[in-house]
Amino acid sequence: MNIIGIYDGHNASAAYFKKNKIEFAINEERLVKKKNQSGFPIKSIKYILKKYNLNNSNIHAVAIAGTLRDDFNDLLHEWSFNFNISDHKDVMKNYWNKKLNNIEYDTDYIRKKTSKFKKSYYFKYLNKNSSLNIKSKDLINNLIREIINNLFGIDKKKIAFIDHHYCHLLHAYWSNRDLDMKKKYIGLTMDGFGDGLNQTVWKIYKNKFSKLDSTNQNELARIYRMSTLYLNMKPLEHEYKIMGMAPYNNSNRSKEIENKLSSILKIKNLVYVHDQRPPDLFNHLSNIYSNYRFDEIASGLQSFTEKKLVNLFKRIISKSKINNFVFSGGVAMNTKANMEIAKIKNLKSLFVPGAPDDQGTVFGACYAIAMKKNIKIIPNDNYYLGSTVSKKNIKKILPKNLNIIGEVSNTQIIDILLKNKILGVCSGRMEFGARALGNRSILANPSDHMIVEKINKSIKNRDFWMPFAGTIPLELANKYLENKKKLDGSFMTLCFNSIKNENFIASCHPYDKTIRAQILSRSQNPWYYDLIMDFYQITKIPVILNTSLNIHGKPIVMDEQDAIDLIQRTSIDYLYLDKILIKKN
Ligand SMILES: [Fe+2]
Repeated sequence: MNIIGIYDGHNASAAYFKKNKIEFAINEERLVKKKNQSGFPIKSIKYILKKYNLNNSNIHAVAIAGTLRDDFNDLLHEWSFNFNISDHKDVMKNYWNKKLNNIEYDTDYIRKKTSKFKKSYYFKYLNKNSSLNIKSKDLINNLIREIINNLFGIDKKKIAFIDHHYCHLLHAYWSNRDLDMKKKYIGLTMDGFGDGLNQTVWKIYKNKFSKLDSTNQNELARIYRMSTLYLNMKPLEHEYKIMGMAPYNNSNRSKEIENKLSSILKIKNLVYVHDQRPPDLFNHLSNIYSNYRFDEIASGLQSFTEKKLVNLFKRIISKSKINNFVFSGGVAMNTKANMEIAKIKNLKSLFVPGAPDDQGTVFGACYAIAMKKNIKIIPNDNYYLGSTVSKKNIKKILPKNLNIIGEVSNTQIIDILLKNKILGVCSGRMEFGARALGNRSILANPSDHMIVEKINKSIKNRDFWMPFAGTIPLELANKYLENKKKLDGSFMTLCFNSIKNENFIASCHPYDKTIRAQILSRSQNPWYYDLIMDFYQITKIPVILNTSLNIHGKPIVMDEQDAIDLIQRTSIDYLYLDKILIKKN
């Protein structure tokens, strides 16, 4: 069984399901070199078909995540990808504010504003048919079938559209490394919006999925997104910066904000619905925030989100009597909220897959088809699913100021880290999703907090308040992280309180000392695991600082050329590329 999965929205992606598991997955941004590239992922699909020699004769199905492409302007010009902060604010002021408050407005405002952007891949197909609009769901999907047929010769009957939240759900369920068929699970999906919904709740037992509840009124994600914009950060991208800022303030003023937000939503059965939700949400939030400082807003908003989620999980446990959860959708990207959820007394387990946001829906789309065809699925147990890298032609592309040292031992690499030098790693298969898990990572010694400043300044130009992450071997995790329920932290989707953290302080949040840890099993990445274990043997430091190998605002590097370009543009000291070490003069 060969299935191609496609996601054509924000941060587009494609995947290849071979026989009974996901064989390959890639984000379009890595190929086009633009962070969060949206729209039809033509380069990703071409890459997969070429690499695995796939065509109509051996592809059984193409599974497209999402049934409803409901923003015609976005289909034509990908405004949600192209808008900068002032564009977003401008639309809030000149379109939504007027529309929602019954003030005369230009109904064509968004189209006029977005038409300045580059035409999307779909543009030439969609624009020629003026009768199309967002209600033409089947027409648009049929056009996409036609595009795929034209481009790749794939029979239109093989192309299916899969519900967005069902994709989130299946991705979470089939990536759970602790999956136990004897247990009942709750599958919870929550996001900004997808196929008309923003929350679904499912009961799962023996691979049977029954929907318990759903809503289009859970606006936890939308409130977070709008608050990100209010604080002049980019919606759909910089929400994590608010989460990172939140711990710095825990004042009564942040609690005031939390209380004011609280009345917007209420629980009904197993979902959040509107309570005192005014029509113009952005305006309402702006009024609430107007006399507060940025850190008070971040803290109040994060605390509101955490409490709402904890209350919802408690409600679901009490109503369903099920206490094992898989959780996916954009809201599940909130690693600090996940940490609070994990603390719920009656909750036994929580699993959040890597890439729980929309890019990961390609996995679920493939699984939906595989389940329909009664394929025995092997759960996905790692996210090293992308392209590989090769030292073969490195001499041809190596600039004069970079020298090949050659193959090196772990002790030599540790020596470099202990000199507080910064090491870029581009080796093995690239990770899928936003998290670098040791194959496209920047590694450093976490014992001295000064390394944070060094990385921020010279390499990533990151925001001064943001923490780095760290990787810890599974066997050491219990000693240094609070993880009583032994939750799977393989994919950096959970935060933990750190214990005895003096010598890995630079991998923790500077203020609350939590850590967004990657808990690594040796089977997942033997080279990386052994490096950290050797580092521990020599130094008694159980963690290596890990952050993604990219410049702030750019995608994670993909291949040897990207890695060398990055080294040239930054003051990174060493590059470990396909098992050889390269030093900058
Ligand atoms: Fe989603």
